[in-house]
Formats: sequence, structure tokens, C-alpha cells
Amino acid sequence: MLEIKNLSITFNKQTANDKKALNNLSLHLNEGDFVTIIGSNGAGKSTLLNCISGSYQNDEGSIDLNGSAIHTLKEHKRAQHIGRLFQDPLKGTAPNMSIEENLELAYRRGNLTQNFYTRFLKVKISKEEKELFKSKLSLLELGLEERMKSKVGLLSGGQRQALTLLMATIIPPTLLLLDEHTAALDPKTAAKVMDITNKIIKKNNTTTFMITHNIKHALAYGNRMIVMSEGKIVMDINDEDKKKMSVEDVMKLYATLSVQEFSDKMILD
Ligand SMILES: Nc1ncnc2c1ncn2[C@@H]1O[C@H](COP(=O)(O)OP(=O)(O)OP(=O)(O)O)[C@@H](O)[C@H]1O
Ligand SMILES: [Mg+2]
Repeated sequence: MLEIKNLSITFNKQTANDKKALNNLSLHLNEGDFVTIIGSNGAGKSTLLNCISGSYQNDEGSIDLNGSAIHTLKEHKRAQHIGRLFQDPLKGTAPNMSIEENLELAYRRGNLTQNFYTRFLKVKISKEEKELFKSKLSLLELGLEERMKSKVGLLSGGQRQALTLLMATIIPPTLLLLDEHTAALDPKTAAKVMDITNKIIKKNNTTTFMITHNIKHALAYGNRMIVMSEGKIVMDINDEDKKKMSVEDVMKLYATLSVQEFSDKMILD
């Protein structure tokens, strides 16, 4: 379903501090694969997802999604098939709009033009849509279904991230990209958002990449784990082997692979 071939990107080309952030990276994903990505700071994890989403344009290589060469498409075109969540809960929602208005925008993503966001911010939300949003929000168990007219800017980081997750998946995307999406949340809220994420992915069988520095999460979720270092995939661990691994095993692997030191951000317990 996703075929990445010989992907390379260099930042600051022809300067003294040029950086090859992805180095001839190839990867194949099957439908429904839920791949966790680990690796030290600067390994190229976010760059990989940015190249897939179109935020960055790769220098070399190809990205095919269900047979179409998406690396040639503009970012907003790719967004019709790709859902994204970042570390920052402030990204991905419009703070001055209500919960239901945000959901409405996400729900219409399928037939949006980019101009939609600026031209038609006052959108009529049908009764059926309101019911749908209410039922989806209640799955989060955060009481947001009772606050559908509240401005999103008033929500806590965890509530906002859960809403962003709902928005990214209300029309199940072909591919879901999660970049440390629980890292800025307190441990309890992070666990909750992670649990909801897993349920949504499982329910829709959504093909997903999830970058995390939480090795426990990387091992507990998904059916495959890749380890990145210096713009390459240095390990690709299947479901069976992943199930048998402990956090200590991952640390030993890092040592044998001589991957750079664990980052400060790495959570080991
Ligand atoms: N827009 C950019 N301009 C210049 N250099 C960049 C840019 N984006 C990424 N890089 C560089 O590319 C390398 C890979 O960065 P990337 O953000 O992909 O790392 P990462 O694996 O996501 O790290 P972290 O765990 O810290 O988030 C780094 O050296 C980074 O400085
Ligand atoms: Mg990153």
C-alpha cells in the first residue's frame, strides 16, 4: 500500500552545514500495518513523515501510496489521504472556532479546496452531523460532547490533542502519521490519548506510522517497529519478535548497533 524507494533529502545544500537527513531509505508497508518508529534525536524520523505528507520535498526517490506517486503531489492534495498529529497540541485545530466547527471542517476534508478554510468558515452543521460528532466525542470519555460550542482554545492540551486525533480520523485516512503526539501530555493523559489512538487505528485498520521516544509504547503498540539512525532504517522488527522484546532488549540493541546515545527524551520506565 505504501512503497518508499531510495528516499533522500539534504538540508542546507552547498553550505558548510549541509545535512543528509534521509539517506537512500526504502520501506514497504502493507495495508493495516501499524509501525512504531524509534531512534535518537536528529535520526530523521520527523523528516521521513514530513516527506510523506509533503511538508518537505524529497531530493531523490519515490513514495507510492496505493499505486499513485504522491511525492509529486502538493501537500494539500496529499492531505486528502493522510491524517497527521504532531507533538504540539496547538497544531491541527483552530482555537477561535468551537469544537463542533472544528469537527465540521475535518469532516468536509474529503471535498475541500484549500481556500475552504478561509472562505467558508461559517459552515452550517446539520442535525445528523451534530449527532455524529456527539457520538464520536463521547468515545473520548472527556465530556467534550457536552461542550460542543466551546472554543477549542479553552481546552487543555490533552483534550485538544484527543480532539485533533478525532479530526484526523473522522474520515478514516489512508495513512495516519503520528509524530510524538503524546509527548507533551502528562503521563495519565498521554496513556489515555494513546489508548484512544490504538482503538481508533484498530477499528478502522488504519495504516499508521507512530514516532515515539517512549520505548514501552513503541513495543506495546503496533505490529512492527523500525529503528532509525542517521537517515536510515537500521532495524525493522516484525510483530512476533517485537512481542518478545523488553525495554532492556531495545537498549542492548541500540548499544550493539552503536546508535548514538539515548536522548534525554527517551522514556525508559
Ligand atoms: N527544515 C529543516 N532545515 C534544516 N535542517 C533540518 C530541517 N528539518 C530537519 N533538519 C535536520 O535533519 C536532521 C533530522 O531531523 P528530524 O527532525 O527528522 O529528526 P528526528 O529523528 O525527528 O529527531 P527528534 O527525535 O529530535 O524529533 C537533523 O539534523 C535536523 O537538524
Ligand atoms: Mg522529530
